[in-house]
Amino acid sequence: MKVLGIETSCDETAASIVERDAAGHGTILSNIVRSQLDEHAPYGGVVPELAARAHVSHLDHIIAKAAETAGVKLSEVDAIAATAGPGLIGGVLVGLTTAKAIAAALGKPLIAVNHLEGHALTARLTDGVAFPYLMLLVSGGHSQFVLVRGVGDYERWGTTIDDALGEAFDKVAKLLNLGNPGGPHVERLAALGDPNRFAFPKPLLKEDRLDFSFSGLKTAVRLAAEKHQPLTDQDVADICASFQRTVAEIVATRARSALARYAEELPGHPPRLVVAGGVAANKAIGAALRDAADAAGAELIIPPIPLCTDNGAMVAWAGAERLALGSSDAMDISARARWPLDSADMGLSHGK
Ligand code: KG4
Ligand code: ZN
Repeated sequence: MKVLGIETSCDETAASIVERDAAGHGTILSNIVRSQLDEHAPYGGVVPELAARAHVSHLDHIIAKAAETAGVKLSEVDAIAATAGPGLIGGVLVGLTTAKAIAAALGKPLIAVNHLEGHALTARLTDGVAFPYLMLLVSGGHSQFVLVRGVGDYERWGTTIDDALGEAFDKVAKLLNLGNPGGPHVERLAALGDPNRFAFPKPLLKEDRLDFSFSGLKTAVRLAAEKHQPLTDQDVADICASFQRTVAEIVATRARSALARYAEELPGHPPRLVVAGGVAANKAIGAALRDAADAAGAELIIPPIPLCTDNGAMVAWAGAERLALGSSDAMDISARARWPLDSADMGLSHGK
């Protein structure tokens, strides 16, 4: 089966066609992503109203390009999938409404995809990972551990109580005037700095839970930066290196605890840790997670980075996984700004 996937929940306008064979093996036929970074750059962050307008301007063209690149006519796809939340509501509405229109015009099933489910199932598309597994989603908007038992069957084990990890990277970069998105800038400069010069706090880490907190850490970075004004290039590099070391230690410590819980609650299941979200690109965090996984005898799966960040293929794939189980959604399904992965209505539905 072939599924068109549409993603418009943040600042990427994306569309993709993915094929799933009867054995559950996936192939990406096209994956077109148009980033709105330039539109939002003057404002230092994503402006929701501008994002929604840009999705309106570009989505039709991106979908046409996805079809053309795949060599597939939209009339030949088996279903239309779109992110229905969580995300910036204006953008989600643009993508979901477009999906509804295409589905209605062509008489195809509609699949309303939870954006987080798209991230959660990507490793099955790229690496054929079997259920169950543990997912760590670390992006600009989310930092959570989720036990993935099956399609539509998720249990959130921990989340951030304030900033997301990517957001923390972005805020640190912003206060050091490094540009947006900040993660890659911080990582680049961290390579030139002393990771042990600053001892930043690790909020919440002593508590026996799988949640994150990054806002106090960000404040500590700001205070260190203020104390050393004017900052030399070396100061900036040392701050970046120390911050990155600290968050890598936090993430690895939590991953060790999550894998211990996994071994306890799912005895007999091979432990697997799947990483998703833009922060998966960070080499120091990847290496720390590799150590944590090795120590637990767990397999670590980090999909190719363009599929860790927001894209249409993850939405098309989640749609294909749902369609393969006979699930589709009614045309009156709503877009939503908030939609936790472990909410009651994440199960399979039969709306058509
Ligand atoms: O998944 P993503 O593309 O978008 C969403 O937030 O949904 O993630 C973007 C986030 C940004 O906060 C960005 O700074 C962070 O991922 N990021 C990184 C790196 N590359 C991207 N953080 C740390 N190190 C990186 N190399
Ligand atoms: Zn995302």
